[in-house]
Amino acid sequence: MIEDRKSNQTASARSAAAAVLRWYGDMGVGEATACVPVDGFQQSEELNARKVSVPENTATIQGSRAPLNRPAAPSPQAPRPVPRQPAAAPSMAMDEVEQLAQACTSLDELARTLDQFDACPLKRTATQLCFADGLPGAHVMIIGEAPGREEDQQGRPFVGRSGQLLDKMLACIDLDRKSDDPARSAFISNIVFWRPPGNRKPSTAEVMMCLPFVKRAIELAKPRIVIAAGATPAQALLDTPTGITRMRGSWKTITTGIGEVDVMPTLHPSYLLRSPEAKRFAWRDLVAVKAKLLAEQ
Ligand code: URA
Repeated sequence: MIEDRKSNQTASARSAAAAVLRWYGDMGVGEATACVPVDGFQQSEELNARKVSVPENTATIQGSRAPLNRPAAPSPQAPRPVPRQPAAAPSMAMDEVEQLAQACTSLDELARTLDQFDACPLKRTATQLCFADGLPGAHVMIIGEAPGREEDQQGRPFVGRSGQLLDKMLACIDLDRKSDDPARSAFISNIVFWRPPGNRKPSTAEVMMCLPFVKRAIELAKPRIVIAAGATPAQALLDTPTGITRMRGSWKTITTGIGEVDVMPTLHPSYLLRSPEAKRFAWRDLVAVKAKLLAEQ
């Protein structure tokens, strides 16, 4: 009888825990960045109410690579440890960021500079830099929104589900990021180079910090056509608040250090995964890209 009650209690505790995990998943929490849950509201109340010393050995932030060991249960009397927060990103004036990007004379140098660049706050929570994939010098460059979980793990853009769809879309117009032929390949990057926590949309400040590097990447990769996949890259590159459904499908240009580059704003593959009925619009945009490539051959 007692045994039965115990096992019922264990089963219901398990299913409650599973429900909480499912809820976290639904809310977009993809991974643990600390081995103990952190209540940020309570923490700041505690910090305001009294001086809390921050023990050095409580580094549990993902960037610290601290092993996610199971923590010892805190004793009820002991003050709750305050996990160390990542240092704030050093601030940098935008003209300094622009100079840094402009000083790079190759895509490799741009990637190395980005790897050392600490002023974008996204770097603190990402696993690694996710710069570019495909063939530099390809006639088509695709700029997406931001690395997701798989991209963050592999350090290459568009390798997850959206990337698989992007590859199929490119194949429809005879492009393949693995090709060595600039006319048949594609160069792929994002408007920010680090994964936003929980795959949230990058903030304007984060996009602005990366934009000089994106523009320099365009200058160094020298594409004939840029496909801006989704509202975030299209709005940032074209400096407009216009929504992607209004903007998509019509050619725009951006002025860069290598002259004017044609830009086709289109729908983001992850939107197409959620709204397959919109694929016909993306298809039209790709046909327009193909027609321009053929006309310029
Ligand atoms: N979505 C993007 O915008 N970029 C990626 O690299 C992956 C998913």
